Amino acid sequence: MPHLFLYGPPGTGKSTIGKILARNLKLPFIDLDRVIETNAGMSTPQIMEQHGESAFRDLESSALKSIQNEKESVVALGGGALLRDENRELAEKAGKVVLLKAGLDTLVERLNGSSNTRPLLAGDLRTQLSSMLEKRREHYNSFTLRAQVDGKSADENALQAQIALGRFYLIAMGEYDVIVGNVGQIGNLLYERGLQDPIIVTDENVAKFHVNKTIESLRKSGYDSKLLTIPAGEEYKNLEIVSGLWKSFLENGLDRKSTVLALGGGVIGDMAGFAASTYMRGIAWVGVPTTLLSMVDASLGGKTGFDLPEGKNLIGSFHPPKLVLADPSLLLTLPERELISGMAEVVKHGIISDPELFNLCGHGLDWVKNNLEEIVKRAMAVKIKVIEEDPYEKGFRAALNLGHTVGHAVELVSKFELRHGEAIAIGMVVEAKYAEKMGLSKKSLSKVISNTLSGLGLPVDIPKQLPRDEIIGTMQVDKKKNAKAIRFALPVEIGKVELVDVTDLEDVL
Ligand SMILES: NC(=O)c1ccc[n+]([C@@H]2O[C@H](COP(=O)([O-])OP(=O)(O)OC[C@H]3O[C@@H](n4cnc5c(N)ncnc54)[C@H](O)[C@@H]3O)[C@@H](O)[C@H]2O)c1
Repeated sequence: MPHLFLYGPPGTGKSTIGKILARNLKLPFIDLDRVIETNAGMSTPQIMEQHGESAFRDLESSALKSIQNEKESVVALGGGALLRDENRELAEKAGKVVLLKAGLDTLVERLNGSSNTRPLLAGDLRTQLSSMLEKRREHYNSFTLRAQVDGKSADENALQAQIALGRFYLIAMGEYDVIVGNVGQIGNLLYERGLQDPIIVTDENVAKFHVNKTIESLRKSGYDSKLLTIPAGEEYKNLEIVSGLWKSFLENGLDRKSTVLALGGGVIGDMAGFAASTYMRGIAWVGVPTTLLSMVDASLGGKTGFDLPEGKNLIGSFHPPKLVLADPSLLLTLPERELISGMAEVVKHGIISDPELFNLCGHGLDWVKNNLEEIVKRAMAVKIKVIEEDPYEKGFRAALNLGHTVGHAVELVSKFELRHGEAIAIGMVVEAKYAEKMGLSKKSLSKVISNTLSGLGLPVDIPKQLPRDEIIGTMQVDKKKNAKAIRFALPVEIGKVELVDVTDLEDVL
């Protein structure tokens, strides 16, 4: 398994952030400078003084080689460790490198008092640092995965590094890795986790594009995988298909040690996850989401289930997967309307707690299409944070309902003519207008939200042909189920929502 390398100028906090990152991801931590010092039997200043920088770089190369075959770890590198092409190649072959960046003032502040342990910065710290940064500017700028560390706590910076690396370890009900990577890694990832006897569950659309490379990756890791393909679409998210899955599991000889691999959108994840949660009282499953919505939402949190004729998701279970692998390149085959619909949930995540993500959404659809990986990583991080705080939806997880109270009613009244995300986009704007009316937010907030949504091609107004009284009536049904009031998640500002109990639903529209 590849290592996660932290790199960047002295003073960016590679060791401190690295330790937190390792703890967050439940991985070992390696400080390469300490490895070098142990191998050499002397401190870095002593090596530099007695043997010079070039000898130190030689030791760095051997240390990098020595950790290559270690178990996956977070590795903090020295500030010049990858200046040599040979070292850079070694690191990039052995894993992913994230560059920590900071302004000169931050670095000077952090390094003040420690320049005697840093021979390359001896003399006036600011002058030495500034000249080092100038010399290495092109080098540092050539790393594509980056985290800006100024003005944030070490914990926040560790999260930024995780987002850049696309690596999360979700602790909610179960514990599992959530990885943004390449579907070609799936065989290896299953193997490392000791998962056995995989059966792929997918739908007809996804099968056309993405099954072969999944099977191939499994084959390379020694798995002779099985495949079940079901028809695509929400109308097939029902008991008949689930029971067909159970029967096929039996016919294919699945036992308690087998693994269901859900390759598809939210419909496949929900159904394959549910079938796995109930087959032989629960077997392992792995999510490989293939829609934007399923990457940033449905695959995270362990909710599985299917629909009844009486309503959506009425039967289900909490059954966390053993692993989620999201490959943003799979989204290139997704129909544009599905991609746009998924963007509504991304915008929602930005509004809930990531203003930077919200701003990125403001660049419009073309930008998004060219930067799917960044969008997926950031939006996943928001949902992961929310479900870790409240796995069983007892409190704050209700923030994820932003736009959904009105949105669900609009979706139902449109008789599902509107895609889920389209209805949620409308719901978010209606709810933002209500927050303004209640004096919870600034007057301009709904405009800011609706501009971003329409820039992505999402609708922001309730279609004229949908009767408002029917929408209110649909919300009333929900209200009855929830006693006296409905709990709305209302936007207060970009990055913050508040949970508010609302009794007068007519007032909302
Ligand atoms: N479990 C949860 O926490 C949770 C959260 C949100 C939504 N959901 C559920 O998710 C479902 C909606 O998921 P969805 O929007 O992913 O819909 P979906 O699974 O129906 O996929 C949408 C369409 O895109 C096709 N498709 C999927 N990936 C593709 C790809 N890479 N290339 C080409 N075509 C592809 C599918 O075949 C389908 O036709 C709903 O049933 C909803 O209830 C669950």
